Amino acid sequence: MPPQELANRFQSFGQQHALAFWDELSPDEQSHLASQLAAIDLELIDSLFKGDVDQPDWAAEARRATPPPAMRLADRRGEGTSSLGLSPAEAKQTGAAAMAAGKVGILLVAGGQGSRLGFEHPKGMYPIAPLSHATLFEIHLKKAVGLAKKYGKPVPVYLMTSPVTHDETVAFLAEHKNFGLPAGDLLVFCQGTMPAVDDKTGKLLLAGKDQLFLSPDGHGGTVAALERSGAIAQMRQRGIEQLFYFQVDNPIVPICDAELVGYHLLSKSELTSIAVAKQTPAEKLGNFVMLGDRLHVIEYSDFPADVAAKLNDDGSLRFWAGSIAIHVFDVAFLERMLSFKDALPFHIAHKKVPHLNDEGKLVEPTEPNALKFERFIFDLLPQAARPIVVEYTEEECFAPLKNAPGEPKDTPEYVQRFMIAQHREWLEAAGAKVAEGVAVEIDPVWAVDAEEVAKRVKAGTAFSEETLFSDAK
Ligand code: UTP
Repeated sequence: MPPQELANRFQSFGQQHALAFWDELSPDEQSHLASQLAAIDLELIDSLFKGDVDQPDWAAEARRATPPPAMRLADRRGEGTSSLGLSPAEAKQTGAAAMAAGKVGILLVAGGQGSRLGFEHPKGMYPIAPLSHATLFEIHLKKAVGLAKKYGKPVPVYLMTSPVTHDETVAFLAEHKNFGLPAGDLLVFCQGTMPAVDDKTGKLLLAGKDQLFLSPDGHGGTVAALERSGAIAQMRQRGIEQLFYFQVDNPIVPICDAELVGYHLLSKSELTSIAVAKQTPAEKLGNFVMLGDRLHVIEYSDFPADVAAKLNDDGSLRFWAGSIAIHVFDVAFLERMLSFKDALPFHIAHKKVPHLNDEGKLVEPTEPNALKFERFIFDLLPQAARPIVVEYTEEECFAPLKNAPGEPKDTPEYVQRFMIAQHREWLEAAGAKVAEGVAVEIDPVWAVDAEEVAKRVKAGTAFSEETLFSDAK
């Protein structure tokens, strides 16, 4: 018999089927299932399924929204009219000083299932680099090494996995000696999970007779996981005051970019985000907007078309700022958020989830059959004081690997084109000439950014063949 209290609780929520195969399980399997079920908040699942959770009326909110305080591209070039009154040169200096003081860390989230890409391993293990075939993990960790070399201070990496990606990620990094990042500068921590329910009945789905189907609880699970893992305490002890946040699937992120960190510090913002300018009103990017003095991201699916289409006097989009999930957080802000982490709302996704039917047979659905529940990191934004956004071009910072080859966008080939273009741009900015159509790739330890490239490449040098810039023998 299953533990009585557990059985009663599941019965009272109409979820007794989760224990239907109890008698067929070994004692180990029984205790595994019991501990998994004991951790489920049935009340929460019930209210999420019934839709009892408070959801803002985003269409109404969008109508009262204003654009966010921003450094636009023109402001960054010293030609703009930003009311923020920040100097790009001073920002670069201030950000570089924070890096040289060892006050900035990296927060990399890599817990997602990568279902669209269809790669059987954690997405970070995808060999994306056009010439070296370095994986996403290699590129990101080597940037941390390159930054430590540039600024003369270690830059710790806090890497979030999920139960789906954790073991393989840890083994892969160990096998590659963290790509040169000292062990003390890498903390891998695991986010939590949420069950999925049948979209019609609200019943919990089973992945096996002894287990529920569980999926990562969304990148909004980061805050809780940072606390559980002791990462926040470690940041405090190391004197890390800011965190540069980004997602594993984007290899061209200018990690810890001094200019961005500088704007963040000079404006005394608790949370600074990169924004890219939307090309069309309906572009599939979250929209940065202000509601009063609070920064929000309203998802494109919730943003009314007429509001999205509003124009400024000069014909540009009024709501121009698209979110690409790159932020600088104050550690003190995250600490403040610890008490708020359970209040982050859940977003519901309608997905295909394989599961056991009543007879214990595995069903592979061909249509979405389940509701998954995820928390999003951007729901923290409204809590931040003095938030700002800084406009970057997509070429500077955004080429996410989302889709399998053959799709129109965000595929491996698409991402590689951006990688090559970024490195070509750095070489040309240093005065080198790269022949048309020639692929170039820069190892982040060889040079982590355009400034470092300029120290290693003589102006006037011509590259007429495919070239990998690397110190590796
Ligand atoms: P996405 O929402 O794009 O998901 O995550 P994904 O896993 O990359 O791909 P799909 O949607 O299954 O095809 C954006 C980023 O957030 C991280 C992912 O690892 C990726 O870096 N993420 C997502 C988490 O860390 N945890 C989550 O629960 C969800």
